[in-house]
Amino acid sequence: MKELLRESFHLFLLMYLYFVQRSIGATDTISTTHFLKDGDANITSPDGTFEMGFFSSGSSKNRYVGMWYKSLSVRTVVWVANREAPLTSGSGILKVIEPGRLVLLNDTNKVVWSTNTSTSVQNPIAQLLDSGNLVVKQAGDDNFLWQSFDHPTDTLLPGMKLGWNFLTHREVYLSSWKTQEDPAPGDYTYHCDPSGYPQNILKKGSNVVYRSGPWNGLHFSGTRNPRGSHLYKYEIFSSKTQVYFGYKLISSVITRLILNQNGALKLWTWGDHVSDWIPQLSIPADNCDAYKLCGAYGTCNSQDFTVCRCLDRFVPNNSEAWKKRNWSGGCVRKTELNCLQGHRFLKYSHIKLPDTRNSWSDVTMTLEECKNTCSKNCSCMAYANPDIRNGGSGCLLWFEDLLDIKVVSDEGQDIYIRMAASEPDSLEKSDGKKRKVLFWILPLSVGLILVILSMLIFHRRRKKALQLKRKGR
Ligand SMILES: *[C@@H]1O[C@H](CO)[C@@H](O)[C@H](O)[C@H]1NC(C)=O
Ligand SMILES: *[C@@H]1O[C@H](CO)[C@@H](O)[C@H](O)[C@H]1NC(C)=O
Ligand SMILES: *[C@@H]1O[C@H](CO)[C@@H](O)[C@H](O)[C@H]1NC(C)=O
Ligand SMILES: *[C@@H]1O[C@H](CO)[C@@H](O)[C@H](O)[C@H]1NC(C)=O
Ligand SMILES: *[C@@H]1O[C@H](CO)[C@@H](O)[C@H](O)[C@H]1NC(C)=O
Ligand SMILES: *[C@@H]1O[C@H](CO)[C@@H](O)[C@H](O)[C@H]1NC(C)=O
Repeated sequence: MKELLRESFHLFLLMYLYFVQRSIGATDTISTTHFLKDGDANITSPDGTFEMGFFSSGSSKNRYVGMWYKSLSVRTVVWVANREAPLTSGSGILKVIEPGRLVLLNDTNKVVWSTNTSTSVQNPIAQLLDSGNLVVKQAGDDNFLWQSFDHPTDTLLPGMKLGWNFLTHREVYLSSWKTQEDPAPGDYTYHCDPSGYPQNILKKGSNVVYRSGPWNGLHFSGTRNPRGSHLYKYEIFSSKTQVYFGYKLISSVITRLILNQNGALKLWTWGDHVSDWIPQLSIPADNCDAYKLCGAYGTCNSQDFTVCRCLDRFVPNNSEAWKKRNWSGGCVRKTELNCLQGHRFLKYSHIKLPDTRNSWSDVTMTLEECKNTCSKNCSCMAYANPDIRNGGSGCLLWFEDLLDIKVVSDEGQDIYIRMAASEPDSLEKSDGKKRKVLFWILPLSVGLILVILSMLIFHRRRKKALQLKRKGR
């Protein structure tokens, strides 16, 4: 009897809890009747990964609507709605209004921030998804009127697309916070750049400060896969309608890519055992990541004291400045190009391919066709296979001086650079010749010195012997 009572009580409790939850409404949703008020309950994604609400950062009293991981002990904001329009009082309200806009109101009921829509719906809601995407849509419909993934702040979450949509002419890019306390857009932005062959670039204001290298089908040209690359898979996807960089998880480890206020791009994974974020990748990694540090045709090696060198067969353009470690003038060919006197292409290996903005490409061409195309145009400076998969394919042409090159020992790609016809054939051979000459000269000269020495000694001894003979008489 007692058992039965207890059982039915349990059952009743469960049912009660279930209905309470239902009547409150899904806590992942904001609607025209269910608002998010500063000080009230936060909203949570269905599986409890992400949470949204009002927050302040550091000692600042400004209030922002933001999103963070619900379960992590370190509060990590991944998105901010009103980053440029902080609330100065703690009485903001976030609600959805017809025809389908999410609006943030201050204490005088003025709109301080809102989302946009080009279509209108009957019953709009905003829902926080488990991916960290906040979407505005018609209740029960799967088409989004607006999504936060199209308006990121400083964080790229798995599933986001960083890049260009050519149909809408819209770009999605990351921008750093101004300071640790101020989420307003700071100095740095990170883009997937489709002008020329796609590559990612990091900018400070309007200046490029870092370039990933073009995407070669497997990774960025001249970079190794980062440490935690068994946890996630990243790529640049390109088609006629869009080009974007993104990554997806191949494990359940919580991962985020963030552009911080100092312009460092960092990939973090959450370490359950340490209850903290673990860095997997940080860019820039060394001074060779500084965009075009060594100028045109200069190559960078951070392990080397000299840092910048000219590519083989190139010399500093301004040797005085170069000696003073001012490498910005770059390098020029030892033998100048002269289109009328013909040319040849020299192969350079293990190269982080130069800046591909303003390059030309055709993914269907073979390397031979690529060479022919480049040959026909005197301002074509180099060619390469952009895609290294399956032995290499496609054609990438450069029509300007080659910038931001790195020689990387165990990665990198082949590039064929236009040189004067009078340049000796291949790079390896000339090096080999030098070594062979040394191989003969060294023992020969040592031998010669030994012969001369012994002749001198012999001569002296004979002289001495003669003198002794004379004295002896
Ligand atoms: C919402 O989340 C923030 C940050 O974790 C927390 O400080 C705040 O207490 C939460 N609000 C409520 C009502 O639980
Ligand atoms: C509310 O927002 C409006 C419009 O941005 C602004 O003019 C007004 O000063 C704000 N009120 C308060 C109390 O911040
Ligand atoms: C909202 O949409 C209108 C019309 O499409 C456009 O003019 C305006 O710039 C948009 N505002 C924002 C903040 O995107
Ligand atoms: C070399 O220097 C000259 C004069 O300073 C400049 O005009 C030219 O563009 C430089 N060449 C390269 C490849 O940077
Ligand atoms: C480096 O050299 C270039 C010319 O090659 C010059 O314009 C520039 O001012 C120099 N920079 C410094 C820091 O000396
Ligand atoms: C060579 O290529 C450049 C850059 O694409 C182009 O402007 C120029 O017209 C080409 N010249 C010839 C002869 O095709």
